[in-house]
Amino acid sequence: MPKWLKDAVFYEIYPQSFMDSNGDGIGDFQGIIEKLDYIRELGCNAIWMNPCYDSPFQDAGYDVRDYKKTAERYGSNEDLVRLFEEVHRRGMHILLDLVPGHTSEQHAWFLESSRAEHNQYSDRYIWTDNWFHAPEGLKHVAGESERNGVYVLNFFKCQPALNYGFLNPEQSWQKGMDDPACIATREALKDIMRFWLDKGCDGFRVDMADSLVKNDDEKKTGTCRIWREIRQMLDDCYPEAALVSEWNRPELAIPAGFHMDFCLDWVGNGYNLLMRDMKNGENNSFFHKDSTRSILDFFDDYLKGYERTKEQGHYCLITGNHDTVRASACLDAQELKLAYAFLFTMPGNPFLYYGDEIGMRYQSELITKEGGYTRTGSRTPMQWDDTKNCGFSTADSEQLYLPVDITPNTPTVAAQEKDKDSLLNVVKAILKIRRENEAFHINENLETLYAKENERAFAYRRGDFLMMCNPSGKEAAIEISPELSKVPEKIYEIGAAAYTDGRFILGEQSFAVWQI
Ligand code: NOJ
Repeated sequence: MPKWLKDAVFYEIYPQSFMDSNGDGIGDFQGIIEKLDYIRELGCNAIWMNPCYDSPFQDAGYDVRDYKKTAERYGSNEDLVRLFEEVHRRGMHILLDLVPGHTSEQHAWFLESSRAEHNQYSDRYIWTDNWFHAPEGLKHVAGESERNGVYVLNFFKCQPALNYGFLNPEQSWQKGMDDPACIATREALKDIMRFWLDKGCDGFRVDMADSLVKNDDEKKTGTCRIWREIRQMLDDCYPEAALVSEWNRPELAIPAGFHMDFCLDWVGNGYNLLMRDMKNGENNSFFHKDSTRSILDFFDDYLKGYERTKEQGHYCLITGNHDTVRASACLDAQELKLAYAFLFTMPGNPFLYYGDEIGMRYQSELITKEGGYTRTGSRTPMQWDDTKNCGFSTADSEQLYLPVDITPNTPTVAAQEKDKDSLLNVVKAILKIRRENEAFHINENLETLYAKENERAFAYRRGDFLMMCNPSGKEAAIEISPELSKVPEKIYEIGAAAYTDGRFILGEQSFAVWQI
């Protein structure tokens, strides 16, 4: 486990929308460099940056055309290296986004692979042996290439799947994982990783980490084998490089070699229980004041993954990401404070999506941009201050990557810095507690103290710290057993909380941290 992960708190940057330093309407590496001190002061000491490679941007850069070259709009490879250096100079770390499962249909490998005559890239992607032969159960495209075959997709139509083989090949066109062509794909992936690690990046967030081997079994035996091989390379040559998987199955991802896995907290239609459970117009997100839910709905699932993996790796909570609706669409400022206080005092490395620290709003009316669709509304420019374009860019507003939210009372960093009760200042305060107390750097010390069916308030412990939360609109009391031998000291509260006669009294919508 890289040492720096012990107390790492990540800030996710969607580079298009963070900070434009050259006035062309889109964010860039230099813009990020200019805001590193802000990120550090917020309490985040690590960054995950979404794909920044050369791409036709049909899926916001998750359609990579050249893995070893940055997209011009963000800057050059040298500029990115300068970003790495500036990050490190501040004692911070940065993960790039690795897209191992597919490339853009414009990647040179795919162009070669599509040719009629056989060449060294013919089997870099998954093709059937005949234009009429569709691969059962796999998304695919027919009729677009001179090659006589149908190719498999990993996500959008623009993203052909790289060939890591089939767990149990059944058709003549299906390769086994140890076919030379599939070994070559694996080696190409390792080569890309080494390329950026040698330039100074600190590891990768891995896109669709479970998607490599086709017709894999329930335990993802084939895909896990590949990740273990890759982890071996890191352990041997880059022991301080970190890997986090977009997988949401820590019991598979962590033994497979990931240091961290995201808890994406999916329920049903892609919304999540803690912050974004919105169905048929009804807001039942756990931190919504009027929700009727118990934290057990979340814990039952989360704790299964956590307990099985806590000694080996980190199961990480997120405020949101570039694929989710912003939590502010379902939770108001007070509710967000409680949600973040919870997230940031839990085990794993928290991931804060840019703008969530000020409660940036979800822009539901936007037309899709770069394959974003409903995700587009969570990808708008960062709101820094009340100058032109909220300080994001000096370009004319029509030239911006996406419109800045200029609706009345739009949140900005500058305004919230001045308000001691702002969401931004609550984020800073909680992250400071996390940073300064060793108990929050020990991954395996979570104990649930109080969590009941049909009750809203709950309590948990990390070392000497007790956290209590009451997301409801009514006061609640919590008694924990065994009783405490001394009076706990309250070190932080949102709302009002008190300890008297062995009971914790939690005011409506409150959260408190106690030290014993
Ligand atoms: C997951 C990424 O987070 C998402 O933005 C992307 O569209 C797909 N994977 C495909 O790469």
